[in-house]
Amino acid sequence: MKVYVSRDMASVALGADDVAHAFAEAGCEVIRTGSRGLFSIEPLVEVETADGRIAYGPVGPGDVAAVLDGSHANRLGPIEQLSFFAGQQRFTFARCGVIDPVCLDDYAAQGGWKGLDAARAQSSQAVVDAVKASGLRGRGGAGFPTGIKWQTVLDAPTGDKFIVCNADEGDSGTFADRMLMEGDPYCLIEGMAIAAHAVGAHHGYIYIRSEYPFAICTMRLAIERSAQRIAPFTLEVREGAGAYVCGEETALLDSIEGRRGQVRAKPPLPALKGLFGQPTVINNVLSLAAVPFILAEGAEAYAAVGFGRSRGTMPVQLAGNVRHGGLYEIGFGITLGELVNDIGGGTASGRPVRAVQVGGPLGAYFPPSMFHLPFDYEAFAAAGGLIGHAGITVFDDSVDMAHMARFAMEFCAVESCGKCTPCRIGSTRGVELVDRIIGMRDTSHTVRPELVEGLSFLKDQGKASTGSARTGEGYLDKALYSRAPSRIDVSVDAQSDLLRDLCDTMKYGSLCALGGFTPYPVLSALDYFPEDFGLAKSVQE
Ligand code: NAI
Ligand code: SF4
Repeated sequence: MKVYVSRDMASVALGADDVAHAFAEAGCEVIRTGSRGLFSIEPLVEVETADGRIAYGPVGPGDVAAVLDGSHANRLGPIEQLSFFAGQQRFTFARCGVIDPVCLDDYAAQGGWKGLDAARAQSSQAVVDAVKASGLRGRGGAGFPTGIKWQTVLDAPTGDKFIVCNADEGDSGTFADRMLMEGDPYCLIEGMAIAAHAVGAHHGYIYIRSEYPFAICTMRLAIERSAQRIAPFTLEVREGAGAYVCGEETALLDSIEGRRGQVRAKPPLPALKGLFGQPTVINNVLSLAAVPFILAEGAEAYAAVGFGRSRGTMPVQLAGNVRHGGLYEIGFGITLGELVNDIGGGTASGRPVRAVQVGGPLGAYFPPSMFHLPFDYEAFAAAGGLIGHAGITVFDDSVDMAHMARFAMEFCAVESCGKCTPCRIGSTRGVELVDRIIGMRDTSHTVRPELVEGLSFLKDQGKASTGSARTGEGYLDKALYSRAPSRIDVSVDAQSDLLRDLCDTMKYGSLCALGGFTPYPVLSALDYFPEDFGLAKSVQE
């Protein structure tokens, strides 16, 4: 009997290897696939029958007999008919969880290479035009039109052009890049080969974070096996060392060049002067993996799905305190509430949803009153947020939003590359400010003025280190502060105004998105959840 078990990193973490081993011991032919992306039912086993694949999940190594005779309590029925999968529009993840990821025959049998063959039968300009017509925008987070980026590189006069894939997926709660690389690596390779044909590049790099060892191995093997198919284009994997800022495109280029990843000022754009000073296409995994569908099925088929200027599909990643965490690929336009409640099933804890953060650690927090927002780049920007890499992290009513604002500032302080002042200094001052506000809130919204004044006094003396605030160890010894006289306004309103001022400086004065977007979570927490900061409750709630 043929059974399918995922070897995706998350499935393996949930015990998929032991399950696969148990089925093999029982004499089954076990095919290891990528994950379908519904992690709440992993380890998931699909048994091939005359009626298609029947799903069982979660399954343990001791469940083999019950699965094979069909009596297992977690028999879910035909996999494609589960509501989580039936409602999706899987353009990019169509093969994920279906095929053996590194089997070239499987890939070709499921429509693989159709896009590359179609592209190579056309001129470079025709391919760029198709990508423009599809409306595809950068799926890494910025949403810049992919076709326009490619046009810039195609038009760049000379040089050894490069294709670089940004697989430094650093946003908390996101895993789409990883799932695609582990579950359908040839799709990414095909997208990069199409990009190479479109702009006239001969070599490409896939920059993968070191926290993704399975993806690194899978991509390396897939590159080796498909080398002939994509020739004369060549590819290699470069492993990142774990800095969040290396997901920023220019820092990433520095890192590939063998230097410490630091953000470069733009212009010049990487499209004109990128890797080793040459014109470079740098796109996220999901942008490149969307391209084979566009070339194979036509730009119109892709553009027909979506909402407003956000065309095509987005692989949304549901994480945090959510019942059905996983990857859900759907056309833009679905509302935030549908994603969290209907598809995600609300919180895993069963308590009411209080906040969702959209777009990773730099994304805004939204309360349920904003659940009408359609998933769309412009709608989220207008609401003071961003879609980013489409990670949605859910929190129940036990969350302390002042602590989440502090976390945003602390994250920025830890990950800052240090190149510009608003981010390097601002984030540390931000942690201190939020700490001070939390301190006031926790002492019934009042604080001894000495506490704040004492902090400045000690800093002047060089006795206070910002490290205490950065590591969250709490406040300096309050007994010491109480000796200093009161001179400044320490009302919670004044401190939150100061925090808003600081956010303004970071937003408009930072060189890259890390410092520039950290204000989103902080300001949204202040705007939608003021009571958590000891401020009067907002009229918006
Ligand atoms: P950006 O808006 O500066 O640039 C977007 C892209 O368009 C870049 O590749 C840029 O070089 C290119 N571009 C701009 N004008 C162009 C032109 N005229 N011709 C050709 N190319 C052009 O945004 P940035 O800083 O690259 O990305 C910020 C985003 O990254 C944020 O929205 C954030 O959500 C996201 N992000 C994603 C993470 C992840 O894990 N995927 C982690 C952190 C941030
Ligand atoms: Fe570096 Fe922060 Fe400035 Fe970005 S905003 S360049 S991470 S210091």
